[in-house]
Amino acid sequence: MAAAVLRLLTCGSVDDGKSTLIGRLLHDTQLIMEDTLASLARDSRKHGTTGEDIDFALLLDGLEAEREQGITIDVAYRFFETPARKFIVADTPGHEHYTRNMATGASTADLAIVLVDARKGLLPQTRRHTRILSLLGIRQIVLAVNKMDLVDHDAAVFRAIVADYHAMADGLGFDAIMPIPMSARAGANVARRAAEMPWYAGPTLLEHLETVAIASEAAGPARFPVQWVNRPDADFRGFSGTLVSGQLRVGDALVVARSGVGSTVKRIVTADTDLAEARAGDAITLVLADEIDVSRGDLLAPAAARPHLAQQFAAKLLWLQADEMIPGRPYLLRAGPFTTTATITLLKHRIDVNSGEPSPARTLAMNEIGLANIDTVAPLAFDAYADNRDTGGFILIDRFTNQTVGAGMILHPLRRAANVHLQAMAVDQAQRSALKGHQPAVLWFTGLSGSGKSTIASALEARLAALGCHTYALDGDNVRHGLNRDLGFTDADRVENIRRIAEVAALMADAGLITTCSFISPFRAERQLARERVGAARFFEIFVDAPIELCMARDPKGLYAKARAGEIRNFTGFDSPYEPPEAPDLTIASAEIGLDAAVDAIIAALRDRRILP
Ligand code: ADX
Repeated sequence: MAAAVLRLLTCGSVDDGKSTLIGRLLHDTQLIMEDTLASLARDSRKHGTTGEDIDFALLLDGLEAEREQGITIDVAYRFFETPARKFIVADTPGHEHYTRNMATGASTADLAIVLVDARKGLLPQTRRHTRILSLLGIRQIVLAVNKMDLVDHDAAVFRAIVADYHAMADGLGFDAIMPIPMSARAGANVARRAAEMPWYAGPTLLEHLETVAIASEAAGPARFPVQWVNRPDADFRGFSGTLVSGQLRVGDALVVARSGVGSTVKRIVTADTDLAEARAGDAITLVLADEIDVSRGDLLAPAAARPHLAQQFAAKLLWLQADEMIPGRPYLLRAGPFTTTATITLLKHRIDVNSGEPSPARTLAMNEIGLANIDTVAPLAFDAYADNRDTGGFILIDRFTNQTVGAGMILHPLRRAANVHLQAMAVDQAQRSALKGHQPAVLWFTGLSGSGKSTIASALEARLAALGCHTYALDGDNVRHGLNRDLGFTDADRVENIRRIAEVAALMADAGLITTCSFISPFRAERQLARERVGAARFFEIFVDAPIELCMARDPKGLYAKARAGEIRNFTGFDSPYEPPEAPDLTIASAEIGLDAAVDAIIAALRDRRILP
């Protein structure tokens, strides 16, 4: 049976006519309201490029600013329908820098219309987009050879482009590639069969869209990501979301993938009535027979066909932002309603978008694709993307800007993650600190080289020791002679430096110690990681704030002089950035207050937070 809703996207280069095509589809399916038409007619006279005819592109290039630039810059979702089907179309821009939008649109689409200007043939963008479509698991392609009117409806032009496209795209895993010659502006072969091209015997675009078979996810095992826990009163507790694949019947046995705890389906509630059976795509609220622990983001699945559950997996990654990807940096990972913190632990290789060939790489720049290992803080329940695009895909989000920085497609869990479980020990942290008479803490000093981090940490440790506290000091220069002697001062090495220290600091805290950590730690993201790893309750971010001029004047190790002379590269404050804390637990202006006063302030903060009695 044909799927009731077809999700599609259009892609191509600037000026290939995407917006015109979508506008034409909307128009020809009678969905343009009369008053929109009237205002369009006025607008066309103002901005349009087609004289007195309605410029269909204006329907979509909604924002005034975009019109002025002449390009669309966002994903716009449009809806239209015919008696045969409903359609949701993602209109994505073709400008070189907007692959992000295309990937966003493609991640939910069943079919892609790849537009090619008949006069230009395949462009680098066409190849890039086609490869991304393949990576994102799109199975159905329409090759829309547009602007046929501008090449005299010449069949030879069309056939040459089709042959070129097959040469490039065969072998990329598409189920079907449907080439259609058309003129979106004239409406030829969009909804109306083009008399101008009698040599073309295939379907119009709309006929194809209405009848194309979509490999539905109905076939796979049931997957139900819980969007929210619906608890209006004490009597009702249901789990709401969309069944993304498979079927569910009342009485079916389900488990929470994360915990393995199971129950059976008692009711399948919808807005209208209860169902006996739900199918992929249905928005439902499940009521289970037992009171089990289920929260937002949990994945419910049949006990007999569980998804993977792992904290480490391999994935293809499409990088979407201007700042390059940094292995080791924490990002937010979002997979459906589930969110956790994740780091890219290893980039295995980059995949050339033009040739598909792997090449060694340490990082990914914008629009690059690579194969990477990902490590999550909380275990993730997932399927391989090839099996299920809903439970096998994820996005990575920058934790400070909230921007989507990457899109991922999971390949498989890593074997090394499969059989490693946490071991509970007989003596725990509470007992260790009871013996010591104080709580553990991590005092994280951050600031420029020469700001006074180590000096303050050292004086503080002396004071704590005098108070009978058990302490330890981790210091940049010292750690870089041992544990981290393999690391230098590139951004990536600094990220790894801090990641390892955060792990060590967390162990020290578990051991019950009050630990000082004196590291430039120039990036917010890694300091945040340290806070999470250690636990916010016992973590103190202490910003040792001194003007760079003062640090340079102090220059305790003569390094600023060397940096100025060009003998040291990537020196913080010169050619390597420092991101000051936005909300430190404590700021010490080391130029303004004396050492004793600085130590007093920290001791007071420790008493305040009941680390010290
Ligand atoms: S961090 O940026 O990764 O946190 P960390 O605190 O471990 O740096 O090390 C900084 C110390 O290394 C400085 O105090 C300085 O003595 C030394 N150092 C050597 N080269 C550099 C450099 N390029 N940038 C900063 N510090 C450097």
